[in-house]
Amino acid sequence: MKPSEARGEFTALEQKINGHPLIYLDSAATTLKPRSVVEAVSHFYSYEAANVHRGAHALGDRATENFEATRSCIAEFIGARDVDEIVFTKGTTESINLVAQTWGRRYLRSGDVVILSEMEHHANIVPWQILQQELGFEIKWVPVTESGELNFDTYKGLLDKKVKLVSLTYASNSLGTINDIAKFIAAAKSVGSVTLVDAAQAMTVEAINVRNLGCDFLAFSAHKVYGPFGVGILYGRIEVLSALPPYQGGGAMIAEVTKEKTIFLQPPQRFEAGTPNISGVVAFARAIEFVRELAPDNISRHERGLTELLLQMLADVEGVRLVGNSRSRRNIISFVLDGAHPSDVGQLLNQQGVAVRTGHHCNQPLMNRFGISGTIRVSFGVYNNEHDVEAFMRALMKAREILL
Ligand code: ALA
Repeated sequence: MKPSEARGEFTALEQKINGHPLIYLDSAATTLKPRSVVEAVSHFYSYEAANVHRGAHALGDRATENFEATRSCIAEFIGARDVDEIVFTKGTTESINLVAQTWGRRYLRSGDVVILSEMEHHANIVPWQILQQELGFEIKWVPVTESGELNFDTYKGLLDKKVKLVSLTYASNSLGTINDIAKFIAAAKSVGSVTLVDAAQAMTVEAINVRNLGCDFLAFSAHKVYGPFGVGILYGRIEVLSALPPYQGGGAMIAEVTKEKTIFLQPPQRFEAGTPNISGVVAFARAIEFVRELAPDNISRHERGLTELLLQMLADVEGVRLVGNSRSRRNIISFVLDGAHPSDVGQLLNQQGVAVRTGHHCNQPLMNRFGISGTIRVSFGVYNNEHDVEAFMRALMKAREILL
């Protein structure tokens, strides 16, 4: 299947919103779900809704087999060396919190430094600040340039032996910038730092191979890769994961429990206490198949074409100011419209069936960096086409006429 043929797989696009055909331009918040994923969730609940790793019966075995098949599928998708390096969580946010509460709590001390960047999502800031309050390490920030890129030279200047963790986003959810993350990881490793990559926005814009990247941790969510909500992935290099204490205690993560103590299972089960989102994990394999069939590079090329088209069109609109303008971007554009509040623009677009996100996008430090409270963000998915770009422009011009 070619990206241009994928649109038919998304039933959500068959509906009208406020009397207009839905123009969905909010894929950075979540992608729509293809038919195969929706059907897999429905099939699981209709015929296979048993628990995993427990049942002495056929349905339990089938659920366990399908659940673990997704783990293998993801390991292969991201080039992990070992299937045990894939931990299921409920999303990118939980994956990062897991690292903070296990690796961070075990290894960070007062006097240590954690490096983040000004373009991090709150999910890669707040867990570290919560821990910092208790442990007293320092957080240093990689600045963002006017064009919306990480300043590598300043970053290099921050690196020394005190840096224990570099935790950076692969792609900015507000600006769309794709960072040269391998270069940042290599520099971190040269001072012996552990590395975490927030890949929530990156899984469909580049083919990702964790072995080539050389990172210790990588986090992402199924729902931004055409998969179900409530499923996240934490990749952890097995040597690092094996040395970590559990995140939460409960069933499914123990080898033995006595009144005196508990012996924990090895990763990944050590980090998967309780009944997981089984239907979501099982259906996620269909999403990965969908992406693999199309190929991340082809999806990315398709979305980049639409991004370039929209950038050209926006260039002619008086009062539109882009926020960030990195040449690396593939599928996200943020802008402000002088004299109009982003949320007013968003509402007027919605009245015309156009879905975008407005506001700070969980990036308040980045918004402060640009001296704004928020932006209007357009983000493309594989189902978008030139007609969507034109419809967006018509709706924006109408909103502009009303507001200015
Ligand atoms: N992190 C998601 C976004 O950027 C929700 O919209």
